[in-house]
Amino acid sequence: MKKSAMMMTVSVIMLSLLISAALSASLKGKEESITLFHGEDFVILLPPHEVEVTFRNRSDPRKTSVLMRGGKVIGNRAKTTLHLNHLIIKAVGEGDEGLYILENLKDPNDVKKISLIVRDCTIEQITKYGGNFHIPVVGVNTPITLEYRPIAVEANQTSRPATVVLTATGISMKPLQGRISVSERSITVSAVTGADEGSYTIRDSEGVIQMKVCLKVKEHKNHVNLLNGERLKINLILNSSLVQLYYTPDSESSPVLLMDKGEFTSAQANFGFEDRLSLEGSMVFLDQMKASDAGLFTITDLQGFTVSTVQLGLKRKKGMELNGPRCHIEGFCCH
Ligand SMILES: *[C@@H]1O[C@H](CO)[C@@H](O)[C@H](O)[C@H]1NC(C)=O
Ligand SMILES: *[C@@H]1O[C@H](CO)[C@@H](O)[C@H](O)[C@H]1NC(C)=O
Ligand SMILES: *[C@@H]1O[C@H](CO)[C@@H](O)[C@H](O)[C@H]1NC(C)=O
Repeated sequence: MKKSAMMMTVSVIMLSLLISAALSASLKGKEESITLFHGEDFVILLPPHEVEVTFRNRSDPRKTSVLMRGGKVIGNRAKTTLHLNHLIIKAVGEGDEGLYILENLKDPNDVKKISLIVRDCTIEQITKYGGNFHIPVVGVNTPITLEYRPIAVEANQTSRPATVVLTATGISMKPLQGRISVSERSITVSAVTGADEGSYTIRDSEGVIQMKVCLKVKEHKNHVNLLNGERLKINLILNSSLVQLYYTPDSESSPVLLMDKGEFTSAQANFGFEDRLSLEGSMVFLDQMKASDAGLFTITDLQGFTVSTVQLGLKRKKGMELNGPRCHIEGFCCH
């Protein structure tokens, strides 16, 4: 009994050794990943020696097909360029996602793998936090259907069913409810936040896909240079009860929470802000700017998405440059 248990342990160890050997073998060789938009061409550079190119379909990994063998293209998905130095998959779609394996038949250790991910859109639109995202629908037969996939599944789990946001009966589903408006020219999602990032698919009255757009939401970025003693104005963009304000002085690297949902924290004393910081509506003011205040103010929403950043720097008066601390460092005027 004891002996067989030990034998089992040994064989389990051997098995796991075998598995890890197999794993490290499969990780050997070059592997890279590439992400393309829907409809782009996927170009594979072929090495000078002869290779066999196979494709392992992501949505059906047991299905492997040969794309090129003996210098010849097989099947109708791939094409080569004139001098056989590129293999091209035209206008990629979801079905082309997977692993492309280039094997040198003369040297089994010479294997290159390229993992292809196809985004669930043909273009990406960048919108500032809180702004309006317009999807043009000119010429699309109504009623229109709008589908949405969040950023976490958009590119690499596109086969997951999308959420139907807008249908013929005009109902818009939860996350975007109340923020969607439809006109003849466009569908608009208003007041976007990081939580709205992902892909949006427009289907016409027949259910045919007419457009796929990805939304990327960027924060507002401001650089402000002030003279000593001036007042800094920080626009919170949202109601102060819906944001957190962080501050990272230039001399430090980690952000410190200055204001939480409209309430200043005790941390403001660490920077000598206690009598200089104030809040009015959705504006925060810092009075009597000092050189040591230079740093980054970051506004985030309650989900942690960055709404806006303000980089504060010190502006020197004309002619003051040679008297500042710089001159000591650079040694211009000290002798
Ligand atoms: C990959 O598999 C999916 C699902 O079976 C199929 O629709 C698609 O055409 C396949 N891709 C290729 C390039 O054969
Ligand atoms: C898919 O992409 C998201 C975001 O880039 C990432 O967090 C997630 O781990 C990825 N999932 C898979 C299965 O690769
Ligand atoms: C903004 O927040 C305050 C509380 O800080 C609240 O009384 C007010 O109704 C909010 N305004 C809006 C427009 O949400």
